[in-house]
Amino acid sequence: MIQEVQPAKLLKGTITPPPDKSISHRSAMFAAISDEVSVISNYSAAADPQSTLSCIKQLGVKVDQTQDKVTVHGVGREGFRIPEKPLDCGNSGTTMRLLGGIVAGAGISCELIGDESLSSRTMKRIIDPLSALGCKIKGKNGDFAPLMVSRNDGLRGMRFPLPIASAQLKSAILLAGLFSEDSVEVIEHVLSRDHTERLLNLKSEAYGTGKIVRSSRADLIPSQNYTIPGDFSAAAFWLVAGTIHNDSSLLLKNTGLNPSRIAALNILAEMGASITTENPRMEGKEPVADLRIEPAELTAIDLNPALIPNCIDELPILMVAMCFAEGTSTVMGAEELRHKETDRLSAMAEILSLSGAVVELAKDGITIHGNKDFIPLAADFPSYHDHRMAMAAAVLATKSRKTSTVKDAECTAISYPAFWHHLKQISR
Ligand code: S3P
Repeated sequence: MIQEVQPAKLLKGTITPPPDKSISHRSAMFAAISDEVSVISNYSAAADPQSTLSCIKQLGVKVDQTQDKVTVHGVGREGFRIPEKPLDCGNSGTTMRLLGGIVAGAGISCELIGDESLSSRTMKRIIDPLSALGCKIKGKNGDFAPLMVSRNDGLRGMRFPLPIASAQLKSAILLAGLFSEDSVEVIEHVLSRDHTERLLNLKSEAYGTGKIVRSSRADLIPSQNYTIPGDFSAAAFWLVAGTIHNDSSLLLKNTGLNPSRIAALNILAEMGASITTENPRMEGKEPVADLRIEPAELTAIDLNPALIPNCIDELPILMVAMCFAEGTSTVMGAEELRHKETDRLSAMAEILSLSGAVVELAKDGITIHGNKDFIPLAADFPSYHDHRMAMAAAVLATKSRKTSTVKDAECTAISYPAFWHHLKQISR
């Protein structure tokens, strides 16, 4: 689908961002291996979390879905059946890596497959540590999916210092660890999102500049009865859109504000954005609030590389903000962006250049020469079938003087099915 994006004079209104994708995946997987029945409210209707649901169903877990409520009849750690067909993770790296950790730990013979994008993303980062634990898991194409998992002869306790700051990797190891008699420990020097630890009550303690987290068979797997908060990574598109359009006024309801996810809030504040938090509260184990965004003039920033794991999914839209920030901004130490649904560094350099922005691409980052009066050229933007590229291009295009298009725009349904509808609703 080719989506037209009209210029907007301003953006006004109230939006409830879609349910958090990371928490949706985890709630369904953890509910599946708990011994109880879990009722998860506000479960994401987006394609990725739906892939997780269809995979757990194939593993013999009964799932009832009504509107946004999902009831998962947990089968316990030992309850999975061997699936008849490959588990299709679609476009979802979180499904393949986290569920990969669970089925490999449980020793369930199965195959995990994904779409073209997922099949081209390295799985070596989970295959190596899971194999070291004693799991039987290998890629059919070397380091890439399809992944073949088979019965193991028991796991051994181990300590893993994480070589990259990745919540998917950390979670894959800890989830396999739930099947080990001896403790499996993960050391994070740079903290990544901590939803797995929170939702499973895993024990952790400070370790140098980071922390150590442990899991083992002794950990009880709690039922997952809660309401999923709105997705901060989806909200981030509106944080930037509402900031760069003069006379705008946006309110984002019910947005998840887990401290390990919201570096973009502090980065935008440092650039001069005016975003206020209202009605802060806890939703289950996750902090939530409403966010009010007023327009603001932005100034350039040299993004601190240490913050990258806490704004990894927001970097594309932060790059859009940098085009409208006076001065030269840099994002360095962001090589991980090359390993997402597409190579997001190259893709963003292409999208920003098409709009007339002056950017320089580096191996691990990008330099953006911004201008507070920047008016993007209208363009036919590619999305690379990547939801976050499509949404970043759309926000950029709203600031142009003419109509733009975004190609393969249906890919926003991976994380945000109502994105185009919401954009239309708030555009004036
Ligand atoms: C996710 C972790 C991040 C993030 C992805 C979701 C998760 O990936 O980019 O969208 O839910 O654990 P990495 O672990 O590869 O950094």
